[in-house]
Amino acid sequence: MPDHVAKNREYWNRIASEYQKEHETQLGIVEPTWGVWAIPERELGLLGDVAGKDVLEFGCGGAQWSVALARRGARMTGLDLSDEQLRHARELTTREGVSVTLLQGSAEAVPLPDASFDLVFCDHGAMTFADPYKTVPEAARLLRPGGLFVFNMATPWLYVAIDKATDRVVPQLLNDYFSLHRVEEDDGSTSFNLPYGEWIRLFRRSGLVVEDLVELRPPEGATTTYEGYAPLEWARKYPAEHVWKVRREAR
Ligand SMILES: C[S@@+](CC[C@H](N)C(=O)[O-])C[C@H]1O[C@@H](n2cnc3c(N)ncnc32)[C@H](O)[C@@H]1O
Repeated sequence: MPDHVAKNREYWNRIASEYQKEHETQLGIVEPTWGVWAIPERELGLLGDVAGKDVLEFGCGGAQWSVALARRGARMTGLDLSDEQLRHARELTTREGVSVTLLQGSAEAVPLPDASFDLVFCDHGAMTFADPYKTVPEAARLLRPGGLFVFNMATPWLYVAIDKATDRVVPQLLNDYFSLHRVEEDDGSTSFNLPYGEWIRLFRRSGLVVEDLVELRPPEGATTTYEGYAPLEWARKYPAEHVWKVRREAR
């Protein structure tokens, strides 16, 4: 197991219970929402109709998204690295009486056959914490031809504007954009991102075609349980999160 995967598993095992408690009001199972300011999928329509589709959540955490999509008729698999996050996921799926296949593993090497899914997606899941040079080809491998890969994560803008001394997002560009790849966080986790051109080249090399890049802009007065991610005023001016929507070529 690569060291960042071991560190991230330890990190998520350590914070899982506190994380679930802190964000339970925001992590909806009735109306799934994207990101830090909870923008409803109903408004963005990024996943389309999931009924009857085989869907993989790539870093499912407590499986709130998986439960919501299973209720919309998807055949759901929730993959996660953390035993503790999966324990919360198991509790939720049992309590809600919803069928979701929960699988422990890393999104960098998923123990499932090629072309198993119509849709692979995550909302700040494995695409934040695993190496995109591994996860992007892995998602492409797991998708059927014509299948969709949709994921929300922090933007490169956010990484460039973090003041490392205070861990705050500021209105200045402070950090190197071009060397963006692996970031060792102060909390012991490791996160990943890439410059925009590098994302696009990686998608193309993996047989994925870009359909959209949706830059999430929270509405005025939006609230969040993720205080400290970025000031609302900043996120209204610059994109703090974005959703890539890419499709596997229909060969
Ligand atoms: C922020 S949570 C995302 C889940 C949910 N959407 C949410 O917002 O709570 C990130 C999840 O990614 C998982 N994760 C981190 N690295 C992973 C990897 N390499 N493979 C699969 N899951 C991973 C963590 O265990 C954690 O449950």
